[in-house]
Amino acid sequence: MWRYACDAAIHWGDEWPALLRSLLPPGPGLLIHYPGLPAADAAALPAGTPAYDRVEANPTLEQVQRAVDAALPLRPRWIVAVGGGSVLDTAKIVRLALACRCPSVEALLRAVPGPGRERPLLVAAPTTHGTGAELTAWSTVWDVGGGRKLSLSHPANVPDIAAYCPPLTAGLPLPASLSSTLDALAHALEALWNRGANPVSDEMAMAAVRGIAADLERLDEPVPLEVRAGLLRASMFAGLAFAATRTAAAHSISYPLTLRLGVPHGIACAMTLPALWRINAPHMAAKAGRLRRSLDGEDPAAMLERLRRFAATRVPFTLSAYGARPRDAGDLARASFTKGRMDNNLVELDEDAVRGILAEIMG
Ligand SMILES: [Fe+2]
Repeated sequence: MWRYACDAAIHWGDEWPALLRSLLPPGPGLLIHYPGLPAADAAALPAGTPAYDRVEANPTLEQVQRAVDAALPLRPRWIVAVGGGSVLDTAKIVRLALACRCPSVEALLRAVPGPGRERPLLVAAPTTHGTGAELTAWSTVWDVGGGRKLSLSHPANVPDIAAYCPPLTAGLPLPASLSSTLDALAHALEALWNRGANPVSDEMAMAAVRGIAADLERLDEPVPLEVRAGLLRASMFAGLAFAATRTAAAHSISYPLTLRLGVPHGIACAMTLPALWRINAPHMAAKAGRLRRSLDGEDPAAMLERLRRFAATRVPFTLSAYGARPRDAGDLARASFTKGRMDNNLVELDEDAVRGILAEIMG
C-alpha cells in the first residue's frame, strides 16, 4: 500500500513581477528574503510591503525566533519568501507561528497546536536549485550550542505555493550553485534507496538525477539561464520525490559534518553518495537498472564519480580539507544517527559501516 501527495501548488514563471502578480491575494503582506535580493525583485511586491532580511545560513533557534517576533505584530495576510533553504525554512515557521498564534519557536518545536482557520498564504520562491524546502513539510533549525539539528515537521508547514522563477537563481555564486545542486542530487538518490519510496517518488527522483547528471558540469561562470532553469526543474523533481520519502543515510551522516566541520550542506550530503550507492544498489537491482537506462546507459556509479571529480576541482571535497583528522571518524560516525533519517535507508547501517564510509572521504 502506498500514497503520494504534495500539498504545495506549483507555479512556474520566467518573469518574477508577472508571476507574483498572478499569486498574491489582496491585503497586507510580508516579504522574507535573503540579504542580497536585487532591489528590482523586492520592488515587484506591492508598495509598502514590509521586508525582513536577517535570516542567516543554517539559522539557529534564536535567529528564527527573531524573525517570528518581527512578523507577529504585522499580522500579514500573505508571506512571500525568497531565498535558499534557510530563508524558506524560517518563513515556514513564521507562517506556522502566525497560524497557530504560538509566538514561541521552542514551543512549536515541541508540539504544533492545531493551526487556526485563518493562516497567511505562504508563497515560497527558491533562489537556489537544491533544497526543495518550497515543497516539504519540515524546517531545519540548528542548535549550535547543543550540537544538534532540530526539525519542525507538520503538514501545515508545507508552503501553499512553490513559485519557481529561474531568473531568481541567476545571482547564485558558483560554490553555492554546486552545493545546492549536489543537495538536490542527494535528495533524489535518497528517495530512491528509501524504505518509504513509491512509484511516484521513484519517477520524480529519476527525472531529477537525469537532469542533474546532464547539467551539473555546465555550472561554470557565467552560468547560462537555461542551465539554471534545467537544474531548478531537477531540484523541483527531487523535492517532489523526497517530500514523500524524506532523506536517508547521506543526510543523516551530513549533519555532524556541517555542525562540527562547517562543510556546506549539499557537499556534506554528496560526499557519501558513491559509497551509499555501492551499498544500496544491490538491494534495488530493478530500480538501479531503470536509473541506468534513464541515464542513457551510463552506470550510475560512473556518473557519480564524474560529478564528484568535477565538483572537487571547484570546491573542497574531502573531510580533511575541512579540518577533520582520521581519528575524528569515530566521533563523527557516532553523531551521524539521526532518527527519522538514517533508518529510512534501504540498507541498515551500523557505526562501523559509517566509520568506513567516512574513512573513504577523509582524503
Ligand atoms: Fe538537503
